[in-house]
Amino acid sequence: MSVVSLLAELADVGASRAGGYDRLAWTRADSKCREWFVAQSESRGLDVEVDRNGNLWAWLNPSLPGSALVVGSHLDSVPRGGAFDGPLGIASAFAALDLLADFAPTRPIAIVAFADEEGARFGVACAGSRLLTGALAADTFRSLTDADGVTTAEAMSNAGQSPDHVGADLERVARIGEFIELHVEQGHLRTSAGVDGLTPDAPLGLATEIWPHGRWRVDLIGQQNHAGTTRLADRVDPMLDLARVILEVRNAAEASGILATVGRVRVSPGAVNAIPGSASAWIDARGSDEDRVVSVMGDIGRGAVLESWTPTTPFDSAFVADVGKAIGGDLPLLPSGAGHDAGVLALAGIPTAMILVRNPSGISHAPEEFAEDGDCERGVVALAAAMRSRTA
Ligand code: GLV
Ligand code: MN
Ligand code: MN
Repeated sequence: MSVVSLLAELADVGASRAGGYDRLAWTRADSKCREWFVAQSESRGLDVEVDRNGNLWAWLNPSLPGSALVVGSHLDSVPRGGAFDGPLGIASAFAALDLLADFAPTRPIAIVAFADEEGARFGVACAGSRLLTGALAADTFRSLTDADGVTTAEAMSNAGQSPDHVGADLERVARIGEFIELHVEQGHLRTSAGVDGLTPDAPLGLATEIWPHGRWRVDLIGQQNHAGTTRLADRVDPMLDLARVILEVRNAAEASGILATVGRVRVSPGAVNAIPGSASAWIDARGSDEDRVVSVMGDIGRGAVLESWTPTTPFDSAFVADVGKAIGGDLPLLPSGAGHDAGVLALAGIPTAMILVRNPSGISHAPEEFAEDGDCERGVVALAAAMRSRTA
């Protein structure tokens, strides 16, 4: 089946009226995507498993000797996310397997859909893969809540997945010999050829590394009071500090040449006629240089609480070169500013590569995220070539 037809099957799942997709982890829409994954796997005769962290696995020839070549990505999205971030990697994996229908691999192949990659609901990105490798402790994961106070355990239970045994699963990690994640390009980061992003002539690339990435929370405390009766001079209004923090983050990022974003704030109680009692801001900071990312947050101060941190994650250059050779052509090399499960596996010592598919809009985590049909099909052919070469 073509990757375009496979993605079309998900076109209505979690579609937001405002555009884009709401497929936050462990919601009804996410469950529907997961049901689709199971149906696609079963229709190809693959053995489906859900691991203790809620990651979905579809195995081809699991009893063959040797560790597996694993391919895949994730199905969850950010609020009003695009159609490609995550699902393109999974649909491409199924489509690549179809291209390899007459091929007999000599080692197991698995397609994986990692749970809760975006961290858009509970705050920690790549929760499924981090739990798997032990990079996220089970207790820390269980302590997370969403904006409505729903715990991760409740959310998983509501979706029919037991949270009782979440945590490191090193036996399973040992079964992953190599991992390849195909992903839509995000942004137009500069390639090794000095070009800003992938081009129509070179629509596929290989990632060299993932930039260091941290998420911090700043809590600002005020005095809740009446908007119509409290003199300006008497107010303790955390919104003023919130505005200052947002500007400080932007200015510090500009001065240091990194990226930093305040994409989420919470104001309590959030009434139009009350001075808030508290406000929180979440800061996402990344860049090519780890020290600069950390020092920007040092400059912000304000008791920022680190919620997650991922260091610079280089991909195994020999493995990436082998994957590139299997695909053929001289693929552009480029870093990824976005985080991925591939990075979590790379940090766990697994040879890992990412194939990136051109996104002409350059926009991601938004409805305008895009990849052309022809480029998606080229991605599948490339992934199939890599899969064939690694399992022959
Ligand atoms: C995930 O896509 C991230 O980079 O935040
Ligand atoms: Mn992604
Ligand atoms: Mn994403």
